Amino acid sequence: MTCNFLALARPNLQGLSPYVPGKPIEELARELDLNPADIVKLASNENPLGPSPKVLTAIEKELPELTRYPDGNGFILKQKLAEHYGVEPEQVTLGNGSNDILDLVAQAWLAPGLNAVFSQYAFAVYPIATTIAGAECRVVPAKDYGHDLEAMLQEIDENTRVVFVANPNNPTGTWFDVTSLEQFLAAVPEHVIVVLDEAYIEYAASSELPDGMKYLANYPNLIVTRTFSKAYGLAGLRVGYSISSAQIADVINRIREPFNVNSLALVAACAALEDEDYLFRSRQANEQGMEQLELGLNALGLRWINSKGNFIAVDFQQDASAINQALLERGVIVRPVAGYGMPNFLRVSIGTHEENARFLTVLKQILSDG
Ligand SMILES: Cc1ncc(COP(=O)(O)O)c(C=O)c1O
Repeated sequence: MTCNFLALARPNLQGLSPYVPGKPIEELARELDLNPADIVKLASNENPLGPSPKVLTAIEKELPELTRYPDGNGFILKQKLAEHYGVEPEQVTLGNGSNDILDLVAQAWLAPGLNAVFSQYAFAVYPIATTIAGAECRVVPAKDYGHDLEAMLQEIDENTRVVFVANPNNPTGTWFDVTSLEQFLAAVPEHVIVVLDEAYIEYAASSELPDGMKYLANYPNLIVTRTFSKAYGLAGLRVGYSISSAQIADVINRIREPFNVNSLALVAACAALEDEDYLFRSRQANEQGMEQLELGLNALGLRWINSKGNFIAVDFQQDASAINQALLERGVIVRPVAGYGMPNFLRVSIGTHEENARFLTVLKQILSDG
């Protein structure tokens, strides 16, 4: 090797580690010579229902148009989202997943000398996006694994441009209530953009968590991000969005890739948004699966963090890597979260009844084998 291209990359990228996704089924099958059909993946907070049939029909209808570029402005989807939330289409920004929007916010408002504030154990993309932008990550210690919003306020200074908050948070599943959000928004200085990441909000009953959309009219510095990847079951298509003031949306629009959401994703998201029955079933399956896992974990004498997402972080009270390995060897993929500073935990996504049962059975065997 003649040249060290990492050394030549921007200084702020030197210490950056890539995002580690959940292990794909095919990868584990290759590594351990397992039959993919026998593998259960509960590692990426995916929807176990499979895609809505209405979405599949919409995609099929769009297939003959694949030679064309997508509508770069996502006109129809923006119209539908605007109608859904009672906002103007100019307030809607579409992303290649909501991850795209988080990156775009960091690129637009963060730079060396500036900082972003977020919580310990918050979603991994916040530090990655902040670091890529060359800004400082101000990580605020969590309170009971959740965001300590009061402590986060204390970390904001004149160089803060963005605060990332996830409600509920991944990987902990923790959440904050209406009063906490209202006090927080009222106290954040107006030059600081609040990214309220609601990737899992559809799983929570409406009375349990604040609806970020309600605060947009009063807070021009608020961006609410949501996604079709979770409760709408479209993770593979990569489509998410934000609603914000039109001015914030305009800034993001200037730096986003011209065709950042593909044509199949656009039609699929339109169909998904209209399929209320699918959303209802997603929620219901998640509630039932969560209860099944909680009961099963309880029976095994294990603890977990209460979660409002489609996943649960289980506390093994010892380094969980050996248990993770044993699960993999038995064809069950969950998510280690040592990278989040939670080495004793494994995050388990809610699967179908059978997948959850398989996880619990295999875990029981592993724990009793000692
Ligand atoms: C809290 C949170 N925000 C955002 C995302 C990004 O999801 P997507 O890019 O699929 O919309 C995720 C994905 O896991 C997440 O957990």
